[in-house]
Amino acid sequence: MNPFNYDKLVSLKEFCGREDELKKVANIVKGKNNVLMYGDRRYGKTSLIKKTFSLLPTDIFSVYIDLYDIVDEMDFAQSLYNAVIDAMPFSLEDKFLKFGDIFKRLNGVSLTPTKSFEGVSLKPDIRGRDFDELLESAFEGLTRLCEKNKYSHVVLALDEFQQIKEITNIKIDAKLRKIAQRNPNVCFIFSGSKRNMLRALVSSQNSPFYGMTTPIVVKGINSPDIQTYCEKKLDARFVNNSFTYLYDEVRGQTRLLLQLCYRLYSDQINHITMNDAEHVLSGLIEDYDDEFRERFMRFPNGQKKVFKGIVLSKGNKLFSNKVLKGINASKQSLNQAVSALEKQDEITKTGEGCYQINDVLFQLWLSR
Ligand SMILES: Nc1ncnc2c1ncn2[C@@H]1O[C@H](COP(=O)(O)OP(=O)(O)OP(=O)(O)O)[C@@H](O)[C@H]1O
Ligand SMILES: [Mg+2]
Repeated sequence: MNPFNYDKLVSLKEFCGREDELKKVANIVKGKNNVLMYGDRRYGKTSLIKKTFSLLPTDIFSVYIDLYDIVDEMDFAQSLYNAVIDAMPFSLEDKFLKFGDIFKRLNGVSLTPTKSFEGVSLKPDIRGRDFDELLESAFEGLTRLCEKNKYSHVVLALDEFQQIKEITNIKIDAKLRKIAQRNPNVCFIFSGSKRNMLRALVSSQNSPFYGMTTPIVVKGINSPDIQTYCEKKLDARFVNNSFTYLYDEVRGQTRLLLQLCYRLYSDQINHITMNDAEHVLSGLIEDYDDEFRERFMRFPNGQKKVFKGIVLSKGNKLFSNKVLKGINASKQSLNQAVSALEKQDEITKTGEGCYQINDVLFQLWLSR
């Protein structure tokens, strides 16, 4: 069986590297402070949170909340309660019995079949309750849980936190801040992809958690660490800098490296040369050709020019005369299209006049 599961979260046992990040996050959480974890997509934010949780002392109650698909505040509340239920270190029966005592203001909790119908899960009934009350009750409950189970404090990881920006009628971050200030035994990990996160929480001075978080940037796993990890799983060696080549091409993105190794494993190559590396990368890019063509076609012409300009400028001066001439655009029109693409999270400014396309593989496809 191919050992590279690039669409599954890595198991705790197989987690590779990131000693520094693990230590840093754990120390911040142990000190009851908040983490702002950000990084481009698919580098390993979620994996890092879960691994950190597994290493925390047992007197810290850790709750992981995936906000990926929330569309309103009630979804947020439901996700919060579901995550707390998941994290409670009791049997299903005990959870059922104790839930009402801990979260007193809820209507109750019911047993529902899991999505796969293999078992049952607990679903708290939040109908008819006002959001503020639900939030209050959740944090009161967490305090009670701490007291009863001798936890020193709770850490709530809110993954894909940028999703709360979708909810415009209620300022969830402001409400969380209020509660956090009243509850010294709760701290947060806010995690998500770079741009939105910075905007929502750090860049703007009037954002509720401004100045109240310590940033952790999740970049590529250290190259030698992930090389050793991949070689062991492949039972093969990368020769002549072929790994460094791949690592640099995919900007160290964990998922893409694993996806490339998946292919190398299928090809059963023992000594992976530069030729093999180039071949496997080209193959991967080609497989996305249809998808990327369609995607590219959907952008307005002005934005297509930005992509071409970024490729042409190789991430350097996009607004140089040479590039502007090459893509036949004026500075002003290009500027507008750049702003639009930044808003859509398609590109990121990396320096003065320098931009990168956020989807690594899309950028590689465009370059070719
Ligand atoms: N330290 C690690 N060791 C081994 N595999 C890892 C590690 N970190 C991440 N991965 C793998 O890389 C892929 C992406 O990881 P993950 O989902 O944690 O990233 P993410 O930054 O949360 O992505 P997204 O932006 O989509 O939420 C997964 O297949 C995961 O198993
Ligand atoms: Mg994630």
